[in-house]
Amino acid sequence: MSTTANNKSTGAAHSHAASPSKSNTATGRNKSAAGSKAGDSKLEEFFHDEIKDIYWAEKKLVQTLPKMAKAATSSELKNAFTEHLGQTKEHVARLEHVFELLGHKPQAKKCDAMKGITEEGASIIEDTEDGTSTRDVALILAGQKAEHYEIATYGGLAQIARTLGHQDVAKILETTLKEEKETDQTLTQLAETSVNNDAGAE
Ligand SMILES: [Fe+2]
Ligand SMILES: [Fe+2]
Repeated sequence: MSTTANNKSTGAAHSHAASPSKSNTATGRNKSAAGSKAGDSKLEEFFHDEIKDIYWAEKKLVQTLPKMAKAATSSELKNAFTEHLGQTKEHVARLEHVFELLGHKPQAKKCDAMKGITEEGASIIEDTEDGTSTRDVALILAGQKAEHYEIATYGGLAQIARTLGHQDVAKILETTLKEEKETDQTLTQLAETSVNNDAGAE
């Protein structure tokens, strides 16, 4: 039972540690969303890490999409992959802008998921015959797996960006998200309107 005299504090002095100088942030709105670095929150660090991951994935796709276009049988599918290659290069550039807005240098961190998806895509090419529609069915399947990974990633990251107050970053991520969804739809249309039937007849 140690009841010190202090415990009986006189109402007014109820302060827990009256911090000597809380004037450092006196200017108020000083929480620069742009320049987040060392003292970042756990969520901020996690977010930054995931941006590195999707940056790696996008760069990997810049290498992979030309191979997919080359391997495709139908000119429509070739065009779809080639067009998305152009967009994907934009996605890389946008992420570099995101790093800049976050106050970091662009840095890639190996994305095991995209590594696996692209490896599977490569083996799909090997396992199907050149010049067939079955090859195209396989390429569409592989392509959509990559797109869905991107859709999940960008959707989630845009939401986290909003939570962190990075509205500008969220908008950039959502622009890319929209293009990933459109590509996914293009691939679905190709499968449904021609490629799958052609392959069924082989
Ligand atoms: Fe992308
Ligand atoms: Fe994509």
